[in-house]
Formats: sequence, structure tokens, C-alpha cells
Amino acid sequence: MSLKYCFAGKRILITGGGQGIGRQLVQRFHDDKALVFVIDNNRETINPAFSCGPGGLGSHKKAIQSFGVLDHVVNNAAVAKPQMLMDVTMESAKLQFDVNFFACINVAQTAARKMIDVGSGGTFVETQIHKSLDPAMKNQLLSRNIIKRAIDPNEIADLVMFLLSPLSAMITGETVVVDGGASASIM
Ligand SMILES: NC(=O)c1ccc[n+]([C@@H]2O[C@H](COP(=O)([O-])OP(=O)(O)OC[C@H]3O[C@@H](n4cnc5c(N)ncnc54)[C@H](O)[C@@H]3O)[C@@H](O)[C@H]2O)c1
Repeated sequence: MSLKYCFAGKRILITGGGQGIGRQLVQRFHDDKALVFVIDNNRETINPAFSCGPGGLGSHKKAIQSFGVLDHVVNNAAVAKPQMLMDVTMESAKLQFDVNFFACINVAQTAARKMIDVGSGGTFVETQIHKSLDPAMKNQLLSRNIIKRAIDPNEIADLVMFLLSPLSAMITGETVVVDGGASASIM
């Protein structure tokens, strides 16, 4: 198979598609002629060219059901609140579990149910939390990278496109790290 696989006509849901990596994913799949569906709590950030669901965790399920049978799901929405142990509040811990864990299950289950109902299949990718919002921490992380530059959201999109394509058909349940060599440097 050629590396020029095309997502034309594929129905793809991207959560957290309003900004950052999600927004880039939305654009890349759209450019490749896929039918892109977007969910983001911050609706104003979603490009109006794309079908989107209302914000709020509770309403996501209904929105996903309204998107019909999907071919691919990218669970990208996440919140990151890096804090020192003694500063962590139950509220922030709960929010991170709600969005980064429970919502992923909710999204995947809702999409998978539709696929099962019609006897189709689909692929799921998650862009996992490993993020620092604090500039000092960001520089510290960057200094550990073997490749000394920040990662472009497009470089995450490249991997997601590969994982959703038939080129990776026999890769399943894997964690693929895109970190400029930061993990490798501490081994
Ligand atoms: N940026 C990084 O350095 C980095 C590194 C590794 C992994 N990631 C992962 O990639 C993903 C995207 O990262 P990013 O930097 O683009 O994040 P971001 O904060 O820029 O964007 C996240 C988007 O998700 C949306 N969102 C948050 N909670 C939501 C919810 N409950 N329902 C729907 N939408 C919600 C936000 O409104 C926002 O538009 C995350 O899963 C993140 O953990 C990011």
C-alpha cells in the first residue's frame, strides 16, 4: 500500500478539536477530504465549517449519537493541571479524571455502540496527557529532549493519521510516544 492513503469519505470524530493539537487534527483530516465531527467544551473555538456538538460532558453522548456511524475516533480532549502534591484539590483531581479518563470511556463506548449496531468496525486513538502549562517546567522538559525543539502539533497529527490508516492495521493497544526523545534520554 502506498504511503498516500487518503481519508476521503471517512467519518472522524475529534474531541477537543477547538484548539491546539485537536484543531490541527481537524484541519488535516478535513484537508484529506474526511467528514470531520468536532466536540469541544469551548464551542466558540470550533471552526464553523465543521459539524459540532454542544459543550458540556453530559451533552457529548447525544452529540456523538447524532453524528451517526463513525469510522474513527480521536479522544484528544484533555485538561492538564500540574500541581505540587500539597496544592492538589479534590476539585482539580476530579476534573482531570472526569475529562481525561471517564469522558474517554463515554466517548469510545457511545461511538462503538453505533458501530456494533450496524456491524461495522472502527479505530480509536487517544492523545494522552503529559503536559506542562508552567513555562519553567516546559523548559525543563524541553532540555531533556534529544531533539532540542518543541514538538509541532502537525507532528502529532502525522502519527494519528498513520494510526488511523490501514498502514497500521496490525498495531493495536500500543502506546506510541512522540516526545523528541525525552523518554529515551532518561533510560
Ligand atoms: N501540548 C502538549 O505539549 C501535549 C503533550 C502531550 C500530550 N498532549 C495531549 O494532547 C491533547 C491535546 O493537547 P493540547 O495541547 O492541544 O490541549 P489544549 O488544552 O490546547 O486543547 C484541549 C481542547 O480540549 C477541550 N476540552 C477540554 N475539556 C473538554 C471536555 N470535557 N469536552 C470537550 N472538550 C474539552 C478544550 O476546550 C480545548 O479546546 C491532550 O490530550 C493532551 O494531554 C499535549
